Amino acid sequence: MAKTVPFHLKEYWEDRFEKEEHFEWLADWPILKPLVEPYLHQDEPILHIGCGNSTLAFDMADSGYPHVINVDYAPNVIERMKQLTDVNRYPQIEWHAANCLDGLARFDPTSQGFSVVIDKSLCDCLATGDTDDLAMQHQLSDHVLSVTRPNGVWLSISYSSERDHPPSDPKCTGWKSRNKTSDILLSLYPA
Ligand SMILES: C[S@@+](CC[C@H](N)C(=O)[O-])C[C@H]1O[C@@H](n2cnc3c(N)ncnc32)[C@H](O)[C@@H]1O
Repeated sequence: MAKTVPFHLKEYWEDRFEKEEHFEWLADWPILKPLVEPYLHQDEPILHIGCGNSTLAFDMADSGYPHVINVDYAPNVIERMKQLTDVNRYPQIEWHAANCLDGLARFDPTSQGFSVVIDKSLCDCLATGDTDDLAMQHQLSDHVLSVTRPNGVWLSISYSSERDHPPSDPKCTGWKSRNKTSDILLSLYPA
């Protein structure tokens, strides 16, 4: 992502979502499915952060993972996605307007932590706004790991094979590249 475009600013996204109905960043479900499915559990909620107007939540639900909790800080895209959701077909899909850097615990329905948190290019946005200290990425990492249960995973899908934003929590085993085209960076959080 070019540093000249303010991908880290909420105003940029709100303005963009006034005009844009759908844009799927990096990769769509047929590419992602074989990579992420080994980590998904049919009966457990999935936290999807920085959802935008992606169809990922519907795609995962259609593949047997019905409880997807979507968060994005642009209220207009959340409103639109709510309107697009057929609640009879997708009764467990949730949409929440919130800044992921303000904490994620309130979205955890079990209070036990999520077994899977997924972001597709949210980290790339934060990297655009970061100075060299990676403060925003570290902040997000700490919030994600605070709602990830032991042995849970954070699937972070990034355009950058260089993306490296280890959280400050020393128990996190760090990042592993999982895929060559759209890099999938996987963070494991052991007990
Ligand atoms: C590059 S887009 C990716 C959208 C979607 N995940 C996809 O793959 O098509 C990044 C999204 O993250 C959202 N976002 C950026 N920073 C955020 C933050 N701090 N909290 C919540 N959402 C954020 C933006 O509004 C935007 O929808």
